[in-house]
Amino acid sequence: PEIGCLSIIVLGASGDLAKKKTFPALFHLYCQGFLPPNEVHIFGYARTKISDDELRNRIRGYLVSERSASPSKDVSKFLQLIKYVSGSYDAAEGFQMLDKEISKHETSKNSLEGSSRRLFYLALPPSVYPSVCRMIRRYCMNKSNLGGWTRIVVEKPFGRDLGSAEELSSQIGELFDEPQIYRIDHYLGKELVQNLLVLRFANRFFLPLWNRDNIDNVQIVFREDFGTEGRGGYFDEYGIIRDIIQNHLLQVLCLVAMEKPVSLKPEHIRDEKVKVLQSVLPIKDEEVVLGQYEGYRDDPTVPDHSNTPTFATVILRIHNERWEGVPFILKAGKALNSRKAEIRVQFKDVPGDIFKCKKQGRNEFVIRLQPSEAMYMKLMVKQPGLEMSTVQSELDLSYRQRYQGVTIPEAYERLILDTIRGDQQHFVRRDELKAAWEIFTPLLHRIDNGEMNPIPYQAGSRGPAEADELLEKAGYVQTHGYIWIPPTL
Ligand code: BG6
Repeated sequence: PEIGCLSIIVLGASGDLAKKKTFPALFHLYCQGFLPPNEVHIFGYARTKISDDELRNRIRGYLVSERSASPSKDVSKFLQLIKYVSGSYDAAEGFQMLDKEISKHETSKNSLEGSSRRLFYLALPPSVYPSVCRMIRRYCMNKSNLGGWTRIVVEKPFGRDLGSAEELSSQIGELFDEPQIYRIDHYLGKELVQNLLVLRFANRFFLPLWNRDNIDNVQIVFREDFGTEGRGGYFDEYGIIRDIIQNHLLQVLCLVAMEKPVSLKPEHIRDEKVKVLQSVLPIKDEEVVLGQYEGYRDDPTVPDHSNTPTFATVILRIHNERWEGVPFILKAGKALNSRKAEIRVQFKDVPGDIFKCKKQGRNEFVIRLQPSEAMYMKLMVKQPGLEMSTVQSELDLSYRQRYQGVTIPEAYERLILDTIRGDQQHFVRRDELKAAWEIFTPLLHRIDNGEMNPIPYQAGSRGPAEADELLEKAGYVQTHGYIWIPPTL
């Protein structure tokens, strides 16, 4: 392990993302000993002129840890590691000051000899990425005489379409090399998303079945039971496809559909993901249903005539040997009747069915990403009893029950640790991002131009009925009279 001073700089420190995700993730890492106080210094940077203590007070309420033995003591010790520097995002002065503050610790007797490691977390809107990157490059790079590294972490949205994303990539690419850039997609930090690789490639069960011969359709679903409350301004600029589908769900699709990588090396895994994306055929209009919940436009930050979708079902078709003919149905919606994210792999009917059980439903393998992390297989069994009749049941691996006492880490926590360790496996590579935008850009442009409009749906419903019709048309067969219930302890 590297030793020496590690400085973590959170830019946009007083913003929502920093407060709700970045600092709490750092706190969790701190509580588990990954950020030793004699090596690590944390800096907040933003425009607002506030004191160190004011910043600390703003984030204090978000720091909760069930894992800590003495939470309040940990919170105050953690907060003491944070220093605040204010400055603009495009002027030398603030960044020179920031560099001075960071350097102070790197040369102080507190830090062990060895290196100057600087991690810049851009919890900022992408419009300021280029100028912030330029400032970091010019004024805040690690001190070469001490060795170490400088890395930057950037958040989506990386652009609005292929053109803007590529422009952003080139601007950042002129300043930093790919190994220094960590494009975060927090779905890649979720436990059951990370499990996909193991599940698929370490189990003989799945190897021969995972293809067009056996699988009828795959659904990747994201549902939220609340609207865009408080984020209407941001959301309306982007919409559900850019907010959820083009990144989170597409990343999950890659892991479900890709071929076995040569090894677990990050570049080998990312190579396979890119191949899947490049094999996706152009999206057909008739395989898209858009929706907007009623009441969305009442938000004062949303324009009265907005046609931004808050719901979308989009079918992707992967043109390769494994998947030709298998629809990958990506579905995401806000203000629906439930909150969950899952992958649902539906198998084909059993040929020559002697039980006449077809209408009870097909075999399904479901990976519940959240909440109540689980994997379960819906399968037919004999109805216990004297009669020879069939009934659908399940094999269930529910994490809360199976792994009692194990805390599943937060996605951000795990991903930030990866950035410190220099592991890019769970981050999006530049060519991957480009391929992802290539898939959705034509559709997004049609929506932006008003050529496709969302269907209104009631808040708290399943979304537009047309989406269910599309699902059925794609071949999905719904199970009737059976529902999986997460086990309670
Ligand atoms: C974010 C989106 O990336 O993911 C939000 O911008 C969404 O709109 C969130 O609510 C969902 O994340 P999670 O981890 O709660 O499923």
